[in-house]
Amino acid sequence: MQEFDLKTKVYFGENALDHLLDKDSKCAFIVADPFTVKSGLIKNVTDRLDATDVPYLIYDDVVPDPPMDKVIIGVQKALDLRPDCIMAVGGGSAIDFTKAVKMFAHRADPTFDPPFVAIPTTSGTGSEVTEVSVITDPVKKIKYPLVSEELIADVAILDAELVKTVPKTITADTGMDIITHAIEAFVSTGNSEFSDALAERAIKLCCRYLCRSYLNANDMEARGKIHVASCMAGMAFNEAGLGLNHGMAHQLGARFHIPHGRANAMLLPCIISYNSDITNMTIPHENLPACVKKYCEIAASLGIVNFNEVSTVRSFMNYIKILTREMDMPCCIKDVGGITKEEYFAAIDEMADAALLDATTKTNPRVPKKEDIVAIYEALWDLHRDDDRY
Ligand SMILES: NC(=O)c1ccc[n+]([C@@H]2O[C@H](COP(=O)([O-])OP(=O)(O)OC[C@H]3O[C@@H](n4cnc5c(N)ncnc54)[C@H](O)[C@@H]3O)[C@@H](O)[C@H]2O)c1
Ligand SMILES: [Fe+2]
Repeated sequence: MQEFDLKTKVYFGENALDHLLDKDSKCAFIVADPFTVKSGLIKNVTDRLDATDVPYLIYDDVVPDPPMDKVIIGVQKALDLRPDCIMAVGGGSAIDFTKAVKMFAHRADPTFDPPFVAIPTTSGTGSEVTEVSVITDPVKKIKYPLVSEELIADVAILDAELVKTVPKTITADTGMDIITHAIEAFVSTGNSEFSDALAERAIKLCCRYLCRSYLNANDMEARGKIHVASCMAGMAFNEAGLGLNHGMAHQLGARFHIPHGRANAMLLPCIISYNSDITNMTIPHENLPACVKKYCEIAASLGIVNFNEVSTVRSFMNYIKILTREMDMPCCIKDVGGITKEEYFAAIDEMADAALLDATTKTNPRVPKKEDIVAIYEALWDLHRDDDRY
């Protein structure tokens, strides 16, 4: 038996934030990304609350890759304030932070259970509809996904007005996070027809609109489509799970603060190649892993078909490499900058252990061995876009 749940009510499209005009709250706790406060972006939310006389308090001590010590401070604030509504306004980091704050506050005091509204200001993580919150342990230098139904938002508001200010690099990083979510969900061992449908549509939307969104921040049609794609990919992987790509990317984020989507994008062609086992030329075509057919299905939905399955997967990988090149993204760790070869190679052993244990790795279509992960991390140091190792 399989199950497919959609708990979050999603408001989307032009003026989706007007949903806030119906809010009847006596005390809202807004946890916001500091950028949204400094830039005035938060006014899109607070003006609507002001219009209906909803009192609120803004808390903006949120950092990318939120660490547990900050979550503990947030829990105390929430318990002191006792809001009747909690809102997260920001990227995946702010939403994940708020989810963890709400869950731990509830565990500390079971009477603390305000409704939770997630308002993303980046199009990438899909965190507004997932039961995941990724928290960083800066001492152990690992990122660990908390997974619980308690973390799911009651309401998500997708208003593309809030993503217009996202700069090019972050549009590229977060956009590649969406594509990675959708591809990993599609080939995951936990997939279903429902998650496949959402993932396939999310990939199509990204391939059609991501470069447009990257090239013109004010292209509202493209921004709107990518914002919806992010949420659809979130719904897909929330049910289907992710894979080794995320398991390995989490470690690059925790150790070297490589933005999450950028780490995913660098790994993506390597993981597709590894899962498909297409560098192993001695495998007869009829013995190729089952996920090869799934990758071919995604490729075909984008119009990418070559003379056999292996060459179709290769063409699909090339398409991803071209997409990242068009958005000026690095394709190996050396090109990220600020990381020495010595420190990177010294971290590989521990990163491989952590990637094996990462909760997202469990649903990867190929069961990885530690030496496989080490080899991928090693190759990633100076991988060239036309490098055939992966
Ligand atoms: N919960 C999940 O299901 C899930 C899934 C994937 C990733 N994640 C996690 O989410 C985090 C990444 O989230 P993200 O990629 O959204 O980035 P982010 O939230 O870390 O934000 C990246 C940067 O963008 C800025 N920013 C946010 N909104 C902006 C806007 N509208 N205009 C300009 N700048 C803006 C932020 O201030 C920050 O500097 C990682 O910790 C990752 O592990 C969570
Ligand atoms: Fe992700």
